Parts: sequence; structure tokens; C-alpha cells
Amino acid sequence: MQAKLDQIAALLKAARRVLFITGAGVSAESGVPTFRGATGAFANGLTEEGIPFEEVLSGTTFTRNPKLSWKYFFRLELSIRGKEPNAAHRAIAALQTADRAVCVATQNIDELHQSAGSTNVIELHGSLRRIICTVCDYRVYHPTFEGMPELPLCPKCKELLRPDIVLYEEMLPEDALGRLDREQDRGFDLIFSVGTTSIFSYVTWPVALASRSGIPTVEINPDETPISHLVRYRLAAPAGAVLRQTIERMNRG
Ligand code: OAD
Repeated sequence: MQAKLDQIAALLKAARRVLFITGAGVSAESGVPTFRGATGAFANGLTEEGIPFEEVLSGTTFTRNPKLSWKYFFRLELSIRGKEPNAAHRAIAALQTADRAVCVATQNIDELHQSAGSTNVIELHGSLRRIICTVCDYRVYHPTFEGMPELPLCPKCKELLRPDIVLYEEMLPEDALGRLDREQDRGFDLIFSVGTTSIFSYVTWPVALASRSGIPTVEINPDETPISHLVRYRLAAPAGAVLRQTIERMNRG
């Protein structure tokens, strides 16, 4: 592990463009539960109604039973309320310098990367606190969902409101994908995948592409994932301590 950290620190020191692909695991040490895995919010992947969480957080459920979807939007909001960035978010933000561009492509909807100071964050799944109308152009930012009705309606047109997040079965926001494409076209010297089970192709392809073209890749995740076999360096540990130690080594070396 220590030798690997030294090698990654040396790569980071030389890198001019770095991509971090992050998932729920990067926020785990802030006390935000992951979706899956041992610290997952949904025991066996099921809601208390016994429905798979992917189904409750799907476009179809939101259309058929928006109250049920909103019940879990409220749960998600409670799980991120008052949470602060942790050592992993801070380490990623600290890597941005005049000589090193850091792009963060995150599946997280908690805005903790931005709170830590990362300035180039691509929100692949949107942001929970941005509320939009399902019909008109009304949008509002709710720092907390406290006091909101069970089924929030648009003050402008009285239609249903929803968080500006990507639900299962829905397309990813084009602007986010476009930004990631443009970043990818400019190339990266080093790619990290942190705290994600990486089941979506838009999460796995930058790593798959990099490993084919010899660009170094690092995975930080205590558990094995579908991309573990693709990466050059696999760090089976929580992200906060590992990233902090890597930066310390980089600054020393
Ligand atoms: P998951 O909950 O699927 O995976 C979280 C990963 O983080 C797991 O692989 C854990 O092993 C790992 N992990 C836990 N603690 C960690 C730590 N301290 N440091 C590093 N890794 C840690 O979350 P995502 O991969 O983000 O999508 O899930 C992707 C998407 O599934 C979410 O954005 C959401 C969800 O359904 C939608 O809602 C569309």
C-alpha cells in the first residue's frame, strides 16, 4: 500500500490534468449513507415498502406515484442535511492549482465537492436541492426540504415539482455529458474512480478508455467493483485517509 501511495503521489505531482469520478462512497465519511453496500441506506436494496430503491427512484414511479417518490426524496434530503465535506472532498479540492486542472465528475447529488472548494464539478445526476417544475420553467433552490408539503406543487402553474436529479430510466443531462466529453477530448494524465460501484457506462468508460491507452488509473474503494480489474492501482481503503496521505507524500516528495 505505501509503495503504491508513493507512485500515485509522483504521478499526481507531474499531472497537469486529473479526472476524479466519484460516487456515494466519497461522501460516506461525511455520514451520508451510500445506496448499496455495507453502509447502504437501503437494506438489501429494498425500501420499507419492500420495493427495490431503483424502482422507487425511477421515472415511472414518479409519474405513477409521485408521493412515494417524494417520500424518498425527503429521506435523501434528510441524509445530506447539515453534512460537511470530509477529508476526501477536501483533498480533491486541494489538488487544484494553477498548474494542475482537476475535473470532478460526480454521481452525488449532495454538492459536497463544491462545498469543499472544487470548482470544476460535473454533476452527472444533478443536485437534490435544486427544485424544478415538471411543466413550466419555475426553478428554486431549497437549502433544506424542512417545511415543504408532502407533494410540492409549483407556485406558478400548480403542477408537480421535483428535484433536478436524474431518476432511473431518465437520460443524463446533456450539458453535463457534453462537458465531460469536452474534458475527455482535452485528455487526462491521471484518472481516479472513488467510492462508486460504477455500474453505469458513463462512469466506467473513462477508466476503460484510459486503461486501453496506457493512462494511469486509480480506484479507491474498500470493496471490489466491476472496474477493479481494469485499473493500474487499486486502493482497498476508505477514501479520506488514503487521499490525505497521498497528498502529504506528494508535498513531501
Ligand atoms: P453505491 O452506493 O452504489 O456505491 C458506493 C460505493 O462506495 C461502494 O462500492 C462502497 O464500497 C464504496 N464506499 C463506501 N465507503 C467508502 C469510503 N469511505 N471510501 C471509498 N469508497 C467507499 O453508490 P454509487 O456508485 O454512487 O443513482 O451509485 C451510483 C448511483 O446509484 C447513484 O448516483 C444513484 C444510485 O442509484 C441514481 O439515483 C440514478
